[in-house]
Amino acid sequence: MPNELEEFDFENRIVSSEELPTDTETGPSLRPHTLKEYIGQEKAKSNLRVYIESAKMRGDSLDHVLLYGPPGLGKTTLSAIIANEMGVNIRTTSGPAIEKQGDLAAILTNLSPGDVLFIDEIHRLPRQVEEILYPAMEDYALDIIIGKGPSARSIRLPLPKFTLIGATTRAGQLSTPLRDRFGVMLKLELYTPRELSDIVMRSASILALPITEAGALEIASRARGTPRVANRLLKRIRDFALIQGDGRIDADIAADALRQLEIDALGLDNTDRRMLEAIIRYYGGGPVGLETLAATIGEEAVTIEDVYEPYLLQIGFLSRTPRGRCATAQAYHHLGLPYPAPGTPMTGAHQPGLFDTNEP
Ligand code: ADE
Repeated sequence: MPNELEEFDFENRIVSSEELPTDTETGPSLRPHTLKEYIGQEKAKSNLRVYIESAKMRGDSLDHVLLYGPPGLGKTTLSAIIANEMGVNIRTTSGPAIEKQGDLAAILTNLSPGDVLFIDEIHRLPRQVEEILYPAMEDYALDIIIGKGPSARSIRLPLPKFTLIGATTRAGQLSTPLRDRFGVMLKLELYTPRELSDIVMRSASILALPITEAGALEIASRARGTPRVANRLLKRIRDFALIQGDGRIDADIAADALRQLEIDALGLDNTDRRMLEAIIRYYGGGPVGLETLAATIGEEAVTIEDVYEPYLLQIGFLSRTPRGRCATAQAYHHLGLPYPAPGTPMTGAHQPGLFDTNEP
């Protein structure tokens, strides 16, 4: 019998916080352009306002900024806003796209004074490329080695003063020398349902969709703390509202569409539920090591860490212990499974259920 997990399209799950091809479908842009328009992340915003105003007052460029936090929270959007508020151009690239030192040297030498260079997934920059960044960030200089062996010499080319904005889902993976060169470090947090509901109302207004406050809140409370997911759900629910209703999005239409999309009351989809069920049924609720869990559900460990876990941790369904991941009592409750009393011997691996098809 085929394993259902193998057939599930993990990459394109509707509640994925990773950017999907359908997120850039035609239509007006939902991205805010100013700090005033940008909803949520109040702490990061208020600090940024101060740094931006101060840099402008001093007639200087902004210090290098590191934005970190789970995917889908608006790191790219915020970088474009910073450049816009500073009144400078932004050049966008990503860690894995810069393969050689020469690639980065070409980008750096083409910047104009004050420009923002945005490097997404900066933790994936190759090590030799990263080394070019140190003098560029610190001294606005490009050190180039000419020749090989004993006759090799280094020349230093001046660069325009620029602001590097690095974005990463994993600040801990940055090397210390790179991390230390950022003057500003901003952590982006998952959004509250209230903030997400404001974002949904704003997006609906841009897309000219009739929606009630309750409809927006219904979407917001199932968007896993992530604007990208909220906006994606809004667009899909619009389709259900048009075809199965009169086009208006209220709480009932939203709930009905979300049921058809198999997204539950807390925004969990089949993948989340299967991951929790795997911990409970196979590993007696945990602890189970990340790699073991990844192999069990056929996912990469980093995807579990970056994409699935943050929300499950935030809503208290998962706990991370030194010995691995554990499902909490709330997770058992949500899945309608009995929570074993303390001291109950582990029986999870032997329970019949979801993963029977995998067993010999
Ligand atoms: N669209 C996506 N993220 C947003 C945010 N933080 N504020 C407003 N609109 C958004």
